[in-house]
This record gives sequence, structure tokens and C-alpha cells, in this order.
Amino acid sequence: KRIAILVSGGGSNMVKLVDSMTGDHPGRPVLVASNDPHASGLTRAAERGVPVAAVDHKPFRGDRAAFESELRRHIDAAEPDVLCLAGFMRILTPSFIAAYEGRMLNIHPSLLPKYRGLHTHARALEAGDTEAGCTVHEVTAELDEGPILGQAHVPVEPGDTPDTLAARVLGMEHKLYPAVLRRFLEGRRTPLILT
Ligand code: GRF
Repeated sequence: KRIAILVSGGGSNMVKLVDSMTGDHPGRPVLVASNDPHASGLTRAAERGVPVAAVDHKPFRGDRAAFESELRRHIDAAEPDVLCLAGFMRILTPSFIAAYEGRMLNIHPSLLPKYRGLHTHARALEAGDTEAGCTVHEVTAELDEGPILGQAHVPVEPGDTPDTLAARVLGMEHKLYPAVLRRFLEGRRTPLILT
């Protein structure tokens, strides 16, 4: 199966996904694309021999449709079977999502349905939560709403800051996303729970 991965920054999740797709894994990375031409994830992908593409969203200003049609030109040229959003920080329009519905995954750094949107770790700490984590879900038109495919739980430690909690969660993202992608490609839909 042909896997395209969308990143906006460092792409640490993308690296783990790409590095997991070896041997008998049903997936192969065919494209890493970014909305930021300077995203270091693009360099890390190219280092691994994965084709890359960048569409800077800034020149498009608020014209999401125009940005997305250019992005889709690159994505569709790679003919992916599955799209993985990995640290991709742009909101996608319902028509973009409709084009890939049922075959687009995202990783979100909270235990959805808690803390949709941004600043998830600060919000969990603010609420006094004793555990946090991350979620891989199918992408639907509602932000961070789609069917949950996997979750990983981490403890909140005394003295945690958003950064220390983010680092702990990110470590589990790197375990969860590759495992969930493989299960998804094998047609398994029961959520994977890691603790
Ligand atoms: C991180 O905050 C991660 O929790 C979220 O996206 C951000 C960047 O991830 N999924 P990455 O290193 O670019 O994969």
C-alpha cells in the first residue's frame, strides 16, 4: 500500500512511520509533503529516499481551496492509498477530507475526546489530570473527531510542565502511530490501547 505523509515541522512521527515500513510491512512511503518548504521533516524524508513536496501555504493567504488544490496535485501524483497527517498543522476543508475519507489518519496529542484543538498538554495540566496521552483517529470533517483507531496513555508526573508532558507523550506517539498504521493496512479497526 502506498502511504503519503503530511508534516509541518520536524516530522519525528513521520520518521517513525517511514522507518517502520520495511520487510513484510504492507505499507511503503511514496511521498512526504509539507505546507512549509523549510520544514526539517522534508530533509529527514529525503535522507530516507522518500520523494518530497512542499506547498507554502502563506502565499495563498486565506484561500484554503487554492492551497489545497496545489497540495492535492502533488499528493494525487503520488497515487497514495492512505494519507497520514503527522504533525500537520493546517485545518483541511471538508472537500479535501471527502477526497480521502476512510483512508486518512491523524495523530493528536491528547486522549480524545478530551482536548480537541491546540495546547493540549497545558490544558490537561490546568485541569489537574493524572494521565494524558495521544490518539490516532480517522480524519473526518469535524476537527479531531473521527473514529478512534488507537490511544496511548502516559502518567502526568508531579512538577510536569507542558514541555515535559509533551516529550513523554511524543515518545508514545512514536510507538502508537506505526502500530496503528500497520493494523489499519491489515484491515483491523478495533482500537489499539497502549498504556
Ligand atoms: C507534536 O506536538 C506532536 O505531539 C503532534 O505534532 C507535533 C509535531 O510532531 N502530533 P512531529 O515531530 O512533527 O511528528
